[in-house]
Amino acid sequence: MFESNYQVYVTRRIVKHYSQLRQLQPAEQAILKLLDSKWSRMRMLDIGVGGGRTTQHFANLVQEYVGIDYAKEMIAACQQRFSASSSRVFKVGDARDMSQFQDESFDFILFSFNGIDVLSHLDRLQVFQEVSRIGKPGGYFCFSSHNLQGLEREFNWRNQISLNPLKTYVNLIMFALLRFFNGSISPQQIKHSDHQIIQDESHNFRLKQYYIRPQAQFDQLKANFGNVRIYSWKSGLEITTQQELIVNADMWLYYLCEIK
Ligand SMILES: C[S@@+](CC[C@H](N)C(=O)[O-])C[C@H]1O[C@@H](n2cnc3c(N)ncnc32)[C@H](O)[C@@H]1O
Repeated sequence: MFESNYQVYVTRRIVKHYSQLRQLQPAEQAILKLLDSKWSRMRMLDIGVGGGRTTQHFANLVQEYVGIDYAKEMIAACQQRFSASSSRVFKVGDARDMSQFQDESFDFILFSFNGIDVLSHLDRLQVFQEVSRIGKPGGYFCFSSHNLQGLEREFNWRNQISLNPLKTYVNLIMFALLRFFNGSISPQQIKHSDHQIIQDESHNFRLKQYYIRPQAQFDQLKANFGNVRIYSWKSGLEITTQQELIVNADMWLYYLCEIK
């Protein structure tokens, strides 16, 4: 089921798309600023580096930067985009098996832009294990993941109506496609689940993506990580209260965790 996600990431058009992305998302900017005094001493691993959007912003700040991706086409695109350097390396590698790296190798590990969501539930847990193994205790793991609460909102047609008729029209078409591609999933099922696999609009409904409630994500991380902080991807602001977390309907959120 998830093999088809890999096939999306090796297509030439998609590789080109990621190679042209430049800007950091607001939550990434906030985290970059938060750890400002630490970057120069850090060894960083950028998992699912794609076309190197984040490389541009982090590689020159850190002591050593390693970017990996399971799509060799993405790694080739990074090697073409950035000149060779001993402190900036790109390698083919799968987050589920990072045996190419020794225990406690990295101070900061990033898996940005929901890259982890194209994996199954069990593979996701395996990634958390691997990250905690190769991360240094006291170091950081930062990733983003789709928010099931945001999807719950999208699954309700009433939320597609706006004052602008054109916007309403486009919203309703996207709503119909979302419901069509996920015909076996009802709003009630979403309401009562912690996580779901959804074919959403990204890359024309070709990806099957994992959506999770923030509280459930928090619980998943407990075993390997401490001091989990959650950021709105849109505003870049930290979500600090339980009430805010329960009602948050961003389509995805950033998690910054300390490695135990
Ligand atoms: C949404 S793209 C994001 C690319 C880049 N990080 C960015 O923010 O622009 C997700 C990337 O994760 C990679 N990816 C997905 N699963 C992976 C895995 N198990 N191991 C390594 N890379 C993976 C994909 O090939 C893809 O390049």
